[in-house]
Amino acid sequence: MVVTVRPLCDAVGVEVMGVDLRRLSDADFREVERAWHQRSVILLRNQQLGDDDLLAFSRRFGELDPPPNQERGRISPPGYPDIYVVSNVLDKNGDPIGALGYGEAVWHTDMSYLDMPPDASMLYALEIPPSGGNTWFCGMQAACDALPDDLRQRLGDRRVKHDGTYNSGGYLRKGVTPTDDPFKAPGAWHPAILKHPANGRPTLYLGRRRNSYIEGLSREESDALLEDLWAHCTQPQFLYEHVWRLGDLVMWDNRSTMHRRDPFDGTARRIMHRTQIKGANRPVAFT
Ligand code: OGA
Ligand code: MN
Repeated sequence: MVVTVRPLCDAVGVEVMGVDLRRLSDADFREVERAWHQRSVILLRNQQLGDDDLLAFSRRFGELDPPPNQERGRISPPGYPDIYVVSNVLDKNGDPIGALGYGEAVWHTDMSYLDMPPDASMLYALEIPPSGGNTWFCGMQAACDALPDDLRQRLGDRRVKHDGTYNSGGYLRKGVTPTDDPFKAPGAWHPAILKHPANGRPTLYLGRRRNSYIEGLSREESDALLEDLWAHCTQPQFLYEHVWRLGDLVMWDNRSTMHRRDPFDGTARRIMHRTQIKGANRPVAFT
């Protein structure tokens, strides 16, 4: 196979072409991995993956994490506990077969409320609605490089509290006590600016906005700084909008990107299968 790449936009992402993920040589795998390390989001179109193929490709990057605890717990296809289903489709009993419904999923990075978040996640498109449900990616290394001096100074080397109460769909995680108090909420502390272990460059690591808090500031100061940081990061020049086609596989780096999903028509069907690559290390501050 001849592997070629094409940037998805300036800030983040690359399409890797000429690859069948069911038959990927070690040399070609290293090309794919390198593209992911450099560009943080990789798109591979026209794949034909069963769940076993998805798992086999995922495991080439390392051990897998189990799915996150979502609004109805951890939902996996029968016999595939490491696969997470993102879907609005209902089963015979009227229960969703997956998480996140059909509404907007707000900006976030996956599972950063854990001390050891997964390094990467990947989604494989099995069914997509005729329109809507696009997934947006934000290049947090480009956003970090462009951080205005005053914001960088206000942030210093502080840490950020990442909330584990609500998921990106706004749903309460199963068994968690609802709160909007970042001090009471379950979650994890991470440096606001990380060193990316693979490419060595700094990355802004915000996780999610709701119940977020910046260490050492009053709640008001923290909220004001967070608003400014979020407004900076989510400017159009840092974003890639992915319009899904069947057979697309998109893998992203949870340290150096955020993502969100547009809402879509709830009577249409959308089924995505996801895996998550276990973190090799705790996120490390860039100093
Ligand atoms: C995810 C996620 C968005 C989408 O799987 O982590 O946020 O487009 N999904 O389904
Ligand atoms: Mn997500």
